[in-house]
Amino acid sequence: MADYGVSDRGTGCCRCCFSFTLTLGLTSLFLWLSLRTSNPVCSIQDVYIPALNKTENSTAYQSIYLDLKLDNENKDKGIYYDPVNITLHYYVNGLNSDKIGIIEIANYTISGFYQGHQKKTRRKNWINTYGVPWDAAVKAVAGGKAGFRMDLATAVRFKILFWKTKRHGVVVGADFDVNDVGMKATNKGTRLKSGVPEFFSGGTPARLVLVVFSVLVLL
Ligand SMILES: *[C@@H]1O[C@H](CO)[C@@H](O)[C@H](O)[C@H]1NC(C)=O
Ligand SMILES: *[C@@H]1O[C@H](CO)[C@@H](O)[C@H](O)[C@H]1NC(C)=O
Ligand SMILES: *[C@@H]1O[C@H](CO)[C@@H](O)[C@H](O)[C@H]1NC(C)=O
Ligand SMILES: *[C@@H]1O[C@H](CO)[C@@H](O)[C@H](O)[C@H]1NC(C)=O
Repeated sequence: MADYGVSDRGTGCCRCCFSFTLTLGLTSLFLWLSLRTSNPVCSIQDVYIPALNKTENSTAYQSIYLDLKLDNENKDKGIYYDPVNITLHYYVNGLNSDKIGIIEIANYTISGFYQGHQKKTRRKNWINTYGVPWDAAVKAVAGGKAGFRMDLATAVRFKILFWKTKRHGVVVGADFDVNDVGMKATNKGTRLKSGVPEFFSGGTPARLVLVVFSVLVLL
């Protein structure tokens, strides 16, 4: 009889413990699902470099036109952007050579702004350049294409209901080719990507730990 008593109490405690951990696990999972955020998707939509347009036949005008798209794909979270820093580079030896001979040719800043959920915005600017070896670049496009790179750095805070998250760094970039009419060689948008895999960027590790923890708790 005494044995029954002990094992009854044991089972009760175990059940209670199990439902407690189950609730905790489901709560963490739910929290993770609703707090999960995606960094904005940034892409170069359009580029025009008049100095590399063979019909113009002149490198007198040295500005570059850039059309950038910023896309908030989050279903229900707004994004506060800090000032967005953009830097352009030119590959002296073309895009697919080893990255020796990459020189900075322009930088500019887009002022910070707020973007609602599932909104896209474009930023179109003419940017002054410095130090482009224009003669070499004109030769490069005449031979096919010249290689460029754009890097973007900013920090964003997500608006979840009534509060703002802490800042998440967004550091992305992409190479692109320009052809002999001074346009980006591919018509499709060129997505800027981070060096680290997306999954590990933007504050995901903390949430990943939370999920792994909830799964362990569930088991
Ligand atoms: C290249 O320059 C010519 C002459 O100015 C102009 O008509 C043409 O539209 C330019 N090409 C592009 C792609 O803008
Ligand atoms: C381009 O301009 C140079 C002088 O600036 C001229 O000698 C040459 O003929 C021009 N080429 C074309 C295709 O118009
Ligand atoms: C950014 O560009 C300006 C000229 O527009 C230049 O004076 C400045 O040095 C550049 N900044 C960097 C970090 O290269
Ligand atoms: C953007 O540039 C400004 C001025 O150079 C600098 O203070 C800021 O830290 C930069 N932001 C990022 C995210 O790199």
